Amino acid sequence: MSQVIHLALLGCGVVGQGVLTQLKIQKKLLKSRQVNFAITKVLVRDPAKYQDLAREHQLELVTDIQDILTDPQIDIVIEVMGGFQPAEDYILACFAAGKHVVSANKNLIAKNGPLLIATAQENQVAFYYEGAVCGGVPILRTIAQAYSGDEIFNVAGIVNGTCNFILSQMSQKQLNYQEALVLAQKNGFAEADPTNDVAGWDASYKLVILAHFAYGRKVALEDLKVAGIENVTAQDIKMAQQIGYRIKLIAETKKVGNAITLIVWPTLVFESHSLGQIENENNGVFVKSNNLGEALYIGPGAGSQPTSNSVVTDLITVASEMKLNITGQTFHSFDEAGTVVPQNELQKTFVVFLTKELLTTRQILATIKEEGFTVTFQELKDNGLALFTQRLSFNEVERLEKFIDGKAYPIFE
Ligand SMILES: NC(=O)c1ccc[n+]([C@@H]2O[C@H](COP(=O)([O-])OP(=O)(O)OC[C@H]3O[C@@H](n4cnc5c(N)ncnc54)[C@H](OP(=O)(O)O)[C@@H]3O)[C@@H](O)[C@H]2O)c1
Repeated sequence: MSQVIHLALLGCGVVGQGVLTQLKIQKKLLKSRQVNFAITKVLVRDPAKYQDLAREHQLELVTDIQDILTDPQIDIVIEVMGGFQPAEDYILACFAAGKHVVSANKNLIAKNGPLLIATAQENQVAFYYEGAVCGGVPILRTIAQAYSGDEIFNVAGIVNGTCNFILSQMSQKQLNYQEALVLAQKNGFAEADPTNDVAGWDASYKLVILAHFAYGRKVALEDLKVAGIENVTAQDIKMAQQIGYRIKLIAETKKVGNAITLIVWPTLVFESHSLGQIENENNGVFVKSNNLGEALYIGPGAGSQPTSNSVVTDLITVASEMKLNITGQTFHSFDEAGTVVPQNELQKTFVVFLTKELLTTRQILATIKEEGFTVTFQELKDNGLALFTQRLSFNEVERLEKFIDGKAYPIFE
């Protein structure tokens, strides 16, 4: 019989309860794989709220982190409380106490991942966080392991299920943004305050972590060019469809020489491209590399069971390392020097949509030419016009948008 590994949970919400359920239901399966986990303590703020759960899973509820830090039996701490503080202090204290940590906290890892990783290493403990990016899609482990002998050029993902659900519903049911948001909230795919998702922040956290895994670069959130989906209209989606594109929130990092680009932006994706076909709450990450060429990883990007599956996989990884006495490995093991392309130098090919109410297409094109832009165009239904630009910076296209009263979207290429 394998040795019992004692676990503690920090927080017991959607993901925490998923982990409890999975460890209970799959006890037999885990034992057949020589792992035997027992969750003993759970840190909560309000024990009264979690009494039934504690009874069902025979848990000891604690409200002071010291009860976990000073318990010599606890080997691994699972941080699923989220947020920056006190999560960060608790994780650092766990490392100092010699405890391994598994987390799904993308916000914190995107902001302070290098400090957390370095501190885990100093203390020779494990730190894994597969659940932090795309919930159930095992993209971090895939990049860290399956691409270890390959060179990645491009990682582009639909990494936020809320935004993808809203954009899909707008497209499939001809809803406006507000109607699709309400539908997402009704179906449990958007929070009451959806800002973190719809403003592109959640996708930004994930892109910071993906760039670190793909290129060994420690980038900061401030390095990213970010826009959310709040200003995408039903009209934009209709116009995009007429020229064969879908609008998707794409989080992308690309290698350009020794620099990388970092952009989270509502983007036109060709409808026959595999990323263009990922619908609703699903996530997908497209990876382009030297040896493998193009590959796409699709799956459920959030939710209790998919995310807790990633957490449990991390726990099994730590258990294997404990057995072999090799804990203290980093999740991702290469670092590379290099720069980030400054936001004002980022260039894309754009499509600018506009409706020509007073001016003719010929007049619009003449004005655009006078301003020094080169465009090709396609006339659309309902007086619509789609202008395809040359490669422009975001500042330049903003200038173009203003004087023709149009709306620009970069093309995924
Ligand atoms: N849900 C997903 O699909 C998903 C997917 C990928 C990653 N994640 C990440 O997983 C983490 C957890 O997400 P979740 O959806 O499970 O969140 P959640 O449902 O809101 O649960 C958070 C839990 O943490 C507890 N908590 C918060 N602050 C605490 C504190 N200071 N002390 C003790 N307990 C505290 C909350 O307790 P109260 O009951 O007192 O509020 C609650 O039990 C987050 O980092 C999130 O970004 C979630």
